[in-house]
Amino acid sequence: MKSITVFQYVLSLCFFFFLSSDNIVSFAEAKRIKKKIGLLTASLPWTFGPYQAQMHQLSLLLAEEDTDAEYEYDIHWLCFGDTIPDGVYKSYKDLQPRIPKLNPPPEDFPMDHLTFLGDSDMLTQQFSASRMNTLAKKYGLDVMITLMDITKTVPDEPFNMPVLAWIPLHSDTVRPTTVDYWVLRSYHGIAGLAPSGAIAINNAVGTDKEINIPVQDGSSSGSNDSIAIYLIKKLSGTVEVEFIPHIIDRQTLTTKAKTGLKLLNSLSSVAEVDSKLTNQPLINRGQESSLEIGHNQRSIFGVDSNGNGSRKDDFIVLLQGGNYDSEDRKGWDTSLQAFVQFYNSLDESKQSSVHLLIHSMESYLIASDHNLDADAPAAVLPQGNRHHLILHEYGLPRDVYTIDIARHASEVIAAYKTRADVCLHPSKVEGFGMNVMECQAVGTPVITTNYTAMGDFTKLGRAVSPRQMIRNPGTIYEMALPDVAGVADALTELHEEHLAMKRGDKKALARRNKELTESNEWIDANFSPTKVGSSFKSLLRRTQDEYTSRMDAKQSILSSSGPPTSGSYEVASGYHLTIVDWDTPWTLIAPDGLQILDNASVHRFCWSMLLTNQGGSGVTALILPAVYEDGTPVPIMDDDGSVHNDLPVLVRTYMITALQGRASRKKSIAQMVLQNTQMPRRLPDGLAVVIRSEVAERLTL
Ligand SMILES: *[C@@H]1O[C@H](CO)[C@@H](O)[C@H](O)[C@H]1NC(C)=O
Ligand SMILES: *[C@@H]1O[C@H](CO)[C@@H](O)[C@H](O)[C@H]1NC(C)=O
Ligand SMILES: *[C@@H]1O[C@H](CO)[C@@H](O)[C@H](O)[C@H]1NC(C)=O
Ligand SMILES: *[C@@H]1O[C@H](CO)[C@@H](O)[C@H](O)[C@H]1NC(C)=O
Repeated sequence: MKSITVFQYVLSLCFFFFLSSDNIVSFAEAKRIKKKIGLLTASLPWTFGPYQAQMHQLSLLLAEEDTDAEYEYDIHWLCFGDTIPDGVYKSYKDLQPRIPKLNPPPEDFPMDHLTFLGDSDMLTQQFSASRMNTLAKKYGLDVMITLMDITKTVPDEPFNMPVLAWIPLHSDTVRPTTVDYWVLRSYHGIAGLAPSGAIAINNAVGTDKEINIPVQDGSSSGSNDSIAIYLIKKLSGTVEVEFIPHIIDRQTLTTKAKTGLKLLNSLSSVAEVDSKLTNQPLINRGQESSLEIGHNQRSIFGVDSNGNGSRKDDFIVLLQGGNYDSEDRKGWDTSLQAFVQFYNSLDESKQSSVHLLIHSMESYLIASDHNLDADAPAAVLPQGNRHHLILHEYGLPRDVYTIDIARHASEVIAAYKTRADVCLHPSKVEGFGMNVMECQAVGTPVITTNYTAMGDFTKLGRAVSPRQMIRNPGTIYEMALPDVAGVADALTELHEEHLAMKRGDKKALARRNKELTESNEWIDANFSPTKVGSSFKSLLRRTQDEYTSRMDAKQSILSSSGPPTSGSYEVASGYHLTIVDWDTPWTLIAPDGLQILDNASVHRFCWSMLLTNQGGSGVTALILPAVYEDGTPVPIMDDDGSVHNDLPVLVRTYMITALQGRASRKKSIAQMVLQNTQMPRRLPDGLAVVIRSEVAERLTL
């Protein structure tokens, strides 16, 4: 801590230079400051998907008149799912000719408060910080909010504007061995979607960290090392982290569900209800007879004027969600197994009043949303679980389940959840779990896995302990394996509660009512638009302060005696590279026998690459030219075109953490580094030698 006080002194001297212009305006005019804010998410606000819907709701909250607020936001929408040519589009009318195939927004969709920003180079897969900096500069944005998975961001350089990330964490801890850690460090504010996720993020990047840098020989007082430590801490900062969930507007949702159910009980099919609600032509792509109401005794929907329906007392289990994930993160496989196990455990007399309603959003549904609702071409194949085949193989009688793959009006989706007696949603991991929340919001119990957000958010229903953890070579996170037997037991319990309530059992009814009251209160207290809106506005303010503090630290370093001579990198070596889990911004991939002749220069170089835009922005790798002891230079490439085994390479640590998730061999990692780096820079000659005899000696041991 002593070291930092030295620097605080320097900082205080510089203070006047770093009063941001915003503050000056606020002193002078004492009124609200207008900020141009960019909202970045998957696609345009009215397209299918929870991120789009949530970002849209947030945009409305930010646009609300609020005379007490310090800031006023001028809201700009950016997205990476649809490529929109460069430009500023003030309305849908401006935008429409650029996105002719996209389904139009519903009538009355509120978007007058939005300006859309196009970017022809928008990449769909990854989003580098340098790319976002370019966009912010191009369009003069003061601050940005992102809503996307962590893995979409590449932290190649510090953000040049305050960035607040609304984040679903898909793991229960943030490990410094993963690139997630570095991505999270790069934001100034993070709204974690679940309490457990926010705690994990805060533990990793929201608290002051202990940084150990060995005091170097040659730096007499050690003050250089203190500066280095200070730098690492200050440049990465302590991120402002808070739990802010997605918005669950219970009132609106229950009203929608009522509207939907009323139509489902009176019109002749689900497809007809959708068509009526959306004012679009009727689409029927394989709608099952259980969803055809008018002329079908086995229909799930449909009650007569007496309130009688042939299936109104049946136990309906709803499985609803996206099914376009090759990792089956939603756990469709285990949920189907659990339902089959539960069904097989029932007496025949009870089996006939149990039904599984699957509403599964497939990759071809998404394709048609972006293609004016046309049926996706034959070549578009499903990416998720193959329900039809699997349920056939499990031998579940065909009339016990309905597979619905249609896109529905939001009223119909809400009505499905209300009609259901239980929502089955035991995923392997959830960052938020919109379906889990919406089911509870309409009063339907859920069955989930007690892991991440699902454990936090299961109030009405059961969170089943996972069986164990599982890993898949294709994914960076471990996930929880849902327990089929445990989920089947939970179904049995909720089925028994259902039967008791249908019998009019007073105790069962009272218990459910109490649970409903508690869960409603909990939802309104934590997830309401008002609550989310006010949390966001305050976090947004703190995010901007954190940005200012990091910029000040950088400026004070630059205006002092220059970059320190230690602390910029740590060494990784070996045939299988040392696992990288440190905080230094650079990592040296070192061959056996490497000796650094002038460490101070190497460190200074590394720091200045980071602090200034010297060498261009986002430099990710530096070749450290070395010679053997006889003076011959170490080659860069091997004869076979791979990176030479003796070549020392300095790499941004975030990049190594990304690559060590894919390989452990040094040569593979070094190869990927150079492949992923456009024009790697070279440090000056004369800084390093590789002593071959040391290598030979080691090999003969
Ligand atoms: C329908 O409801 C009426 C009135 O509640 C009742 O009398 C009748 O028995 C019911 N019919 C069937 C088929 O359940
Ligand atoms: C999840 O498991 C933890 C630890 O066993 C337990 O304390 C918690 O109550 C469980 N959560 C739910 C919703 O069942
Ligand atoms: C760090 O130490 C070196 C010499 O060891 C010196 O040249 C450099 O100016 C020092 N940097 C700072 C920021 O004090
Ligand atoms: C050079 O710096 C690195 C990283 O801080 C350190 O591991 C190494 O021991 C230093 N080498 C010398 C010769 O000082």
